[in-house]
Amino acid sequence: MPKLVTIVGARPQFIKAAVVSRAMSGHPDIKEALVHTGQHYDVNMSDIFFEEMSISKPAYHLGVGGGTHGAMTGRQLEKIEEVLIAEKPDWVLVYGDTNSTLAGALAAAKLHIPVAHVEAGLRSFNRRMPEEINRVVTDHVATLLFAPTEISRSNLLAEGISESKIEVVGDVMYDAAIFYKDRAVEPGWFKDLPTARGDYVLCTIHRAENTDNKQHMQAIFSGLAASGLPVILPLHPRTRSRIAAMEINPASNIFLTDPVGYLEMIWLEMNCRSIATDSGGVQKEAYFHGKSCVTMREETEWVELVDLGCNKLTGPNAGKIAQAILDDAAVPESARGIYGSGSSGEKILDSIYGFKHP
Ligand code: UD1
Ligand code: UDP
Repeated sequence: MPKLVTIVGARPQFIKAAVVSRAMSGHPDIKEALVHTGQHYDVNMSDIFFEEMSISKPAYHLGVGGGTHGAMTGRQLEKIEEVLIAEKPDWVLVYGDTNSTLAGALAAAKLHIPVAHVEAGLRSFNRRMPEEINRVVTDHVATLLFAPTEISRSNLLAEGISESKIEVVGDVMYDAAIFYKDRAVEPGWFKDLPTARGDYVLCTIHRAENTDNKQHMQAIFSGLAASGLPVILPLHPRTRSRIAAMEINPASNIFLTDPVGYLEMIWLEMNCRSIATDSGGVQKEAYFHGKSCVTMREETEWVELVDLGCNKLTGPNAGKIAQAILDDAAVPESARGIYGSGSSGEKILDSIYGFKHP
């Protein structure tokens, strides 16, 4: 009877963990204890996902959010270690590339508890991104690496990680997109906006390399303004505070809202004209829902979407952003299917079950 401790803390991790936890309902002998580090803590950055996606209440809530990278990761590491010593799990499951991922992986590896990393092998090859440091370190201390694509597998092999530890399982976010798309919810405020289904651009911005740089933020808001299209922008709390501090006044075609829950977000994705973002997850969701994507970064980990022509990298460049938004084209049906078949959650559990410790 494998006992797992799952570590989550940030918005996309609640969504990814919901997929694997749901798959566990088919394996009643697995025991899972969920640890929420507290990295995201506002109701619409955390609680709303637990409610909407029926995620069980965390067994541990560590309350560690905010602060510098070192302070946040260090406090999480200390508290996760206490949980792991008490729980003595067979596996620790971590997701993606946040500070919570790194803290969970390090705490487990130092206690000689095997780490399973979901979304392994993603690389931007930009070590100035905090996420790149988090994912490289996590991959190198993990025992089982669940890569979403062949490209992510080859990135791991190129870093000398043993082939026997890597399994390509597809993308858990695709599992989520399929499962929840019939449950999408129209936001109550949508009908009051001067736009309609199919007409607006859905936008998100939260990457540190954009939010912490005034020129980048000004360029992004100028590009969105210059597109002339209605833009719906659910604001990450970090972005809200930065645009206030930078005294940026969004143009009248840009509609700001608070962050929305996942069911409202996928409704907005399914009904938009196109997407402009610097999020990792939202780039893929654009593709899942057949929408073209403008990625306001210089590089992306999801390179296959750029190769397919449905994701355009503009960097924080106003002219390129406006042009790419206006040049949008729907993703053809023939280009679908590069992130698996929607059964990544089951594949991950099967692999953990079947793992033979050396
Ligand atoms: C984090 C991850 C990023 C991921 C993103 C998902 C790291 C280094 N970054 O970035 O990889 O893409 O989550 O959304 O782990 N804040 C609030 N309320 C909240 C959460 C955050 O006010 O509920 C504010 C705080 O001022 C906080 C700041 O946002 O200091 C940044 O939060 P943090 O979790 O450090 O980084 P994210 O930008 O959310
Ligand atoms: N998301 C959401 N509400 C929002 C913005 C994003 O539910 O207001 C979801 C989005 O659909 C995706 C995930 O959050 O599933 C992506 O998280 P985020 O962009 O914060 O992080 P990243 O994927 O870049 O790590």
